[in-house]
Amino acid sequence: MIFKQLNPHSCRTYLIGEENDQRVIIVDPVIDHFSDYLALLKEEGLTLTHVIDTHIHADHISAGSALKDATGCEYVMHEAAPPQCVSMRVQDGDVLHFNTLELKVLHTPGHTQDSISLIVGDNLLTGDFLFLDDAGAGRDDLPGGNPADHWESLNKLTDLPDQLMIYPAHEYRNRQPATLGRQRQSNPHLQKRSKEEFIKYLEDLRLGPADWMRDVLKANYACAKDPGAAWIPLDTPACEIKGTMDKGVNEIAVQYIEAEELRTWLQTNRSEVLLIDVREKAELTGPLGHMTGILHIPIGQLTGSLTGLQEHKHKKIVVVCRSGARATTGAQILLKAGFASVYVLKGGMISWNQASEGLLQHKQQ
Ligand SMILES: [Fe+2]
Repeated sequence: MIFKQLNPHSCRTYLIGEENDQRVIIVDPVIDHFSDYLALLKEEGLTLTHVIDTHIHADHISAGSALKDATGCEYVMHEAAPPQCVSMRVQDGDVLHFNTLELKVLHTPGHTQDSISLIVGDNLLTGDFLFLDDAGAGRDDLPGGNPADHWESLNKLTDLPDQLMIYPAHEYRNRQPATLGRQRQSNPHLQKRSKEEFIKYLEDLRLGPADWMRDVLKANYACAKDPGAAWIPLDTPACEIKGTMDKGVNEIAVQYIEAEELRTWLQTNRSEVLLIDVREKAELTGPLGHMTGILHIPIGQLTGSLTGLQEHKHKKIVVVCRSGARATTGAQILLKAGFASVYVLKGGMISWNQASEGLLQHKQQ
């Protein structure tokens, strides 16, 4: 059997075929490498018959739709997968035959509803359902994710043999592929837990911001073929449960400021205060509105904006969101980066508006 990983970075794409057969399958291709895949097929005289996405991806644009259009191959995903451009839908227990090669489909939802794993020979391609060792698995807090489903899916591994080699869709720290037997020893997702304990374990992971991933999901829902269809930060271990925030960032203590006190600051020393609103763009024009003079940086883009913020380092920075949760993460990122005077608007725009209404009623009386 031919089994090759094709990408130079953390997103893993697999080419599968048989010796003495020009027909091949590609699993989880990434649009940034679309032309490399085509060049490889051409150089090696290979025919792509199927491209498979193990699930709808949130961290990169899939090359599934583009490869289908360019080569005429089938685009395979689970029957629950959102993209309309999928041409062949599979479900749990299906066995796909490619000449003498068999791919057995396991429906393994949790990270997403449409997640599938594939058994081919002694290999188990797990997508983001299971990563290697301490990487655990893909996060379950994105749209379609469900920790209880993930727990059920992990139980499907119980009867599979120890010697299966695990090949995930991501590997951020150059861990080498390893057996399911080793994962049973070293992967925190595979520790014996009740469903309730598993859900609590995931809740306690305190994953970092992922707002940008929603835009990537939307692009993949729409079968995007443009690498620029959604903004994607560079070198972010976004799918890994332990890698979404720098170590220790979410332990940094932040200072809060009440709406009334912030109003006083703005009235007396406006030029010394920088307001950073870390909500998404659509929220700024929603029912809670926004304050005047804000700098808008969605939380998912804050880390990438730190250099441009250096000129404001001497100011009091107040981070604002809807209720205070995202702003707390934002303040922690700024403090970690060396900004000294950072505050979170306590209760966010909800409190700000309540305080404004109170002020208005007081004036009217
Ligand atoms: Fe994923």
